[in-house]
Amino acid sequence: MDAQLIESLREFVSYKSISSDSFYKEESGKALMFLKNFIESLGGETLVVPHPNSRNSLLMGKIDVEGAQRTLLIYGHYDVQPANLEDGWDTEPFDLTEKDGYLYGRGATDDKGPITATLHAVKELVESGKLKTNLRFIYEGEEESGSTGFEEMVQANKSFLGSVDGIVIMDNYWLTDSQPCLTYGVRGLVALGITVSGPKQDLHSGIHGGAVREPLTDLIELLSQLFDQEGRCAIEGFYDTVAPLSNLEQEQLEKIQYDLDSYAKQIGVKSLSTSDKIELLKRRWREPTFSIHGFDHVYFGKGTKTVIPAKAEAKVSMRIVPDQKPEEIAELAVKAIKQRFETLNSSNELDVVVYATGDWWLGDTSNFLFTEAHEAIKTVWGMEPVYTREGGSIPIIKFMEDVFNAPAMMLPIGQSSDSAHSQNERIRIENLLKGKEVMKHLFSRQQ
Ligand code: BES
Ligand code: ZN
Repeated sequence: MDAQLIESLREFVSYKSISSDSFYKEESGKALMFLKNFIESLGGETLVVPHPNSRNSLLMGKIDVEGAQRTLLIYGHYDVQPANLEDGWDTEPFDLTEKDGYLYGRGATDDKGPITATLHAVKELVESGKLKTNLRFIYEGEEESGSTGFEEMVQANKSFLGSVDGIVIMDNYWLTDSQPCLTYGVRGLVALGITVSGPKQDLHSGIHGGAVREPLTDLIELLSQLFDQEGRCAIEGFYDTVAPLSNLEQEQLEKIQYDLDSYAKQIGVKSLSTSDKIELLKRRWREPTFSIHGFDHVYFGKGTKTVIPAKAEAKVSMRIVPDQKPEEIAELAVKAIKQRFETLNSSNELDVVVYATGDWWLGDTSNFLFTEAHEAIKTVWGMEPVYTREGGSIPIIKFMEDVFNAPAMMLPIGQSSDSAHSQNERIRIENLLKGKEVMKHLFSRQQ
């Protein structure tokens, strides 16, 4: 049975469901069909919801059990980040490869492994007649591209799923490699593009250098004014609405055992921004950040190119936290960027676009989902789970809680060293199998 789970994952991973590139739309369709067929083979019903902008469709599924007292909704995403062998992978990213108890491949942990483990848990329960919970599924194909169209697609088709009692989100990772976790919060996101443009086309820096104000230089000056010397956001008011730390949170943080040295080693840095465990976890989970991801329209190749780029765009984003409001933060940032640019007195032009905004989510660990999952983890793993929050974003959680009027819980399957989004993404076979067992416990409860 365990071999079957691995074979299923092998097939699922082989479909290159990369949502950021429309070239892979057909492959993404195959990944969706894989899930659709799986759910139907278990006696379930499915609904394929086409994307409003013809991107990847959303799959809804349901499996009803006679006499079941409750209904759980499972969320996952079948799309993945791009991956190429040449990026520095040791094995072909879309050819699942087993090594030393791990399975390597794009999507192994984010998010195809957890999805496959869930479906095999259901399969085993259906086959043994032990499934006692009605199940609902939402598998989307655009999560890695900001979940565009998700709200519209779910709103228009929520009646297919009906009412649910709890939402289980399977799309994050343990804090370490050794202790299972349950997760009760994620940060939100505001993504911006800041463009400074000048001449009508790129200029030779020898011929024209000195005659113009250079857009990229303006952009760098502007960006430098948005950060303080420690790299924190210097936009006035940015931190004003961050919720104060509650006693409960302080207690939760204190309980966590976390070795900062091994974390620093894992990510390959000489030192972290703080050597205090609680402070570090606060900075990763419950404080906002501001990052510069990259530049567009500027020279990037090898060697040198003596050019003045006609325009330059910086791609930046902010991770936001309770009680910051995504739209308010976006507005605050756009206003501050425009004001700062004014002070440069440049004849170049500034354009700021908001690419995406996504809400944070903060759950309630006292509800039945956490109590039951806690018990299941204790039984399967022989240890208590750690309660974590996440710095990453899954913007649709709060929306789903509101639409279905039910609480959510995040149930991570993989370990912290799984390298989601990176080279050599993987999942430990033990995590996959025990993850499946945890779900069997949850879905076989009468109430
Ligand atoms: N699985 C991650 C979300 C995640 C990452 C949760 C880290 C917890 C910790 C997901 O696939 C992802 O990467 N999401 C994007 C969302 C963005 C595009 C809106 C992210 O966080 O950057
Ligand atoms: Zn994910």
